[in-house]
Amino acid sequence: MWEVAQRIRGRLAGWLRNPHQDYTPLWSDASNSRPLSRKYVLLALVLIGASALTNVILYGKLAKRWPGPLDNYQPLTIQPVVNDDFLRTRSPPLNSSENAIVTSLYTDSYATAIATLGHSLNRANSTASRILFYLPEKISPRALCIATATGFIPRAITRIPPPHGGKGVYDHFMDQYSKLNIWTLADEGYKGVVYLDADTLVLRNFDELFALPYNFAAVPDVYVDGMGFSLGFNAGVLFLRPSTEVFTDMLAKIDTASYNMHEAEQSFLNHYYGAEAVRLPYAYNANLAIKKRKPELWADVKREARIVHYTLVKPFLKEWDNSGKTVVEIRRMESNVQNKLSAFGGMFKEELLDWVGIWKETRRTYADVLTVCSGASATLPSS
Ligand SMILES: *[C@@H]1O[C@H](CO)[C@@H](O)[C@H](O)[C@H]1NC(C)=O
Ligand SMILES: *[C@@H]1O[C@H](CO)[C@@H](O)[C@H](O)[C@H]1NC(C)=O
Repeated sequence: MWEVAQRIRGRLAGWLRNPHQDYTPLWSDASNSRPLSRKYVLLALVLIGASALTNVILYGKLAKRWPGPLDNYQPLTIQPVVNDDFLRTRSPPLNSSENAIVTSLYTDSYATAIATLGHSLNRANSTASRILFYLPEKISPRALCIATATGFIPRAITRIPPPHGGKGVYDHFMDQYSKLNIWTLADEGYKGVVYLDADTLVLRNFDELFALPYNFAAVPDVYVDGMGFSLGFNAGVLFLRPSTEVFTDMLAKIDTASYNMHEAEQSFLNHYYGAEAVRLPYAYNANLAIKKRKPELWADVKREARIVHYTLVKPFLKEWDNSGKTVVEIRRMESNVQNKLSAFGGMFKEELLDWVGIWKETRRTYADVLTVCSGASATLPSS
């Protein structure tokens, strides 16, 4: 009963946000209805009329419902995302002992993605320290070797289990609370951290993030269903100022705070920072879902995108295996991506080719160390 009510509420909310979506009018069966339902139709018309009249009285006109500015996207602004003059005069040079980029490896199948991410950071002349969080019990020596081939320094972390034994958490998010370990980097003198999910790729330098005066910033999430452009942020790219005190506080609250468990740490962080999370432009987390939702917006976002997030299609994972249980070998990676070009009707071909282009460069540039990695054991230390 509750689920049915939720579904109806969801549909209604989706329709209100996106009036162009297909829907069944409430009065579609009016022609073959009995007089009783006609009475309801009449009542509804009276109510609509009354609300229109109220609008006219209050605002002097009939209110027009526009789609949101992103679903109604037009390229209007002429300014770039970042004001370079301001940055040049106001931000100190980046100190790599105080600023770090962190990513995480929880399963072997993401190792090649992290090697590619590291090389993409090299290409963008990124100078912040690079730290790779990994779960030692879940990662083989070979995967760790590949993931650190292009500049990430490995750091074994302790898994933070999901609260309530993981009840209600999506399977592929079970390890995600471990991400909260980022806040402990304050102990080592880090003052600013950019966290990047392993399925991101850097296209341009984003050092300006380290000059933000805020404690926490992230990019609003985008959904391909009725939720569309959301105010809640995506936890795949974060800027934060680490603090051990905050870390301890978070651990105490993941159990007791009330939030939707499905999306794990993303949901928790959205609640923890609530109205105080600074919303960054999509250029910092150019989520493929934007392209699916509004291609015109994507075309503009991509002109300045610093970080692309491969949410809907993951070039480095085996076809039809978005859970990442199967490792794609280095020599099979290019054909693996080729097989994915037609996903979503070929919509992401350009982005997949961007990724494979940087992967090929990675493989060429780091051929020696990758060859050494191939000789390392691919079995887990615990097995
Ligand atoms: C960089 O940061 C470290 C640690 O805070 C500090 O000791 C060092 O002096 C800084 N270097 C520069 C050039 O500011
Ligand atoms: C990175 O630095 C090199 C050498 O200084 C320069 O030629 C190149 O244009 C820079 N790349 C980017 C993306 O800024």
